[in-house]
Amino acid sequence: MREIVRIEGLKMYFGGLKAIDNLDMSIYEHETLGIIGPNGAGKTTLFNVICGVYKPTDGKIILNGQEVQGSPPYEMARKGIARTFQISKPLYDLTILDNVVAASGIHEYTGIRSFFKKSHTKEVLEKVHDILELVGLSEIEHKKAREVSLGYLRRLEIARALATEPQLLMLDEPCAGLSNFAINEITELVLKLKEQGKTIVLIEHNLPITMKVCDRIIVLNYGQKIAEGTPEKVQNDKKVIEAYLGEEDED
Ligand SMILES: Nc1ncnc2c1ncn2[C@@H]1O[C@H](COP(=O)(O)OP(=O)(O)O)[C@@H](O)[C@H]1O
Ligand SMILES: [Mg+2]
Repeated sequence: MREIVRIEGLKMYFGGLKAIDNLDMSIYEHETLGIIGPNGAGKTTLFNVICGVYKPTDGKIILNGQEVQGSPPYEMARKGIARTFQISKPLYDLTILDNVVAASGIHEYTGIRSFFKKSHTKEVLEKVHDILELVGLSEIEHKKAREVSLGYLRRLEIARALATEPQLLMLDEPCAGLSNFAINEITELVLKLKEQGKTIVLIEHNLPITMKVCDRIIVLNYGQKIAEGTPEKVQNDKKVIEAYLGEEDED
C-alpha cells in the first residue's frame, strides 16, 4: 500500500506540556486509520499539526514524499488534507448548498480576481449535489446552516471536506454528542466513504464504532503512541486497557 503521509519524531509542546511527544506513524492510501486514546491524549493536537493549524515544535510531516510541516492550513488543504472539527464551524448564514459550494472553491483561488468569478457553475453544482446526496443532505440543501441540528452539521462538515477533493480525510470525533440514531447514520456514511476507497483518519472516543470501521488503530496516551495494529490486537493490549481504565477512575 502506498504511504501518503509519514510522520517522524513529531513533537508539539505547549510550554512544558508535551501534547505530542516524539511520534512516528504512517497513513496509507485507502485505509481507515483510527486514532484513539483518553481525553487529553493529543488526538486533536495531532490533527491540528497535520493540517497546519500549529507549527510542530520538532519533527517531520512528509506528504507524498515532500516535507510539509509548518505549512499554513490553506496550503495543507490545497495539498489534499481535509479535516472536520470536533466543534462544527460552518458558515451559519449560508445555506447547506452554499456552504459546500464555498468549500469546493479552495482550488480556484488564484488571487483577488477569483472572488468575482461565478462560483455556482454547472460543474460545481453537479459535484456539490453528488456530495449532498452521498452525505444525505439533499433534502435540506436550501436551509441555512444555523437552522439545522448537530447531526446535520456534522454531515455538512464532512460534505465540506469532501468538496475539496482531499487525498486524506480527517474526521475529529464526528459522533460526539449525537443521538444513537445520528451516530448510526455517521457510521454508515464513514463505511460508504471507505467503500469508495477514500483514505480516512478517524478520531473517535466511541470504541465499538472505531472497532467496526477501522482497518488499523493507533492509540495515543500523553502524546505518545502506546499501541498500534488491528482493532482485535489493540483491544486486547494491556497498556490500552490500563489507559482507558485510568480514565474511568477519573470520571
Ligand atoms: N492550544 C493549546 N495550548 C495549550 N495546551 C493545549 C492546546 N491545545 C491542546 N492543549 C493540551 O494538549 C493536550 C492534548 O489535547 P488534545 O489534543 O485536545 O487532546 P484530545 O483531543 O486527545 O482529547 C491536553 O493536555 C490539552 O490541554
Ligand atoms: Mg480532541
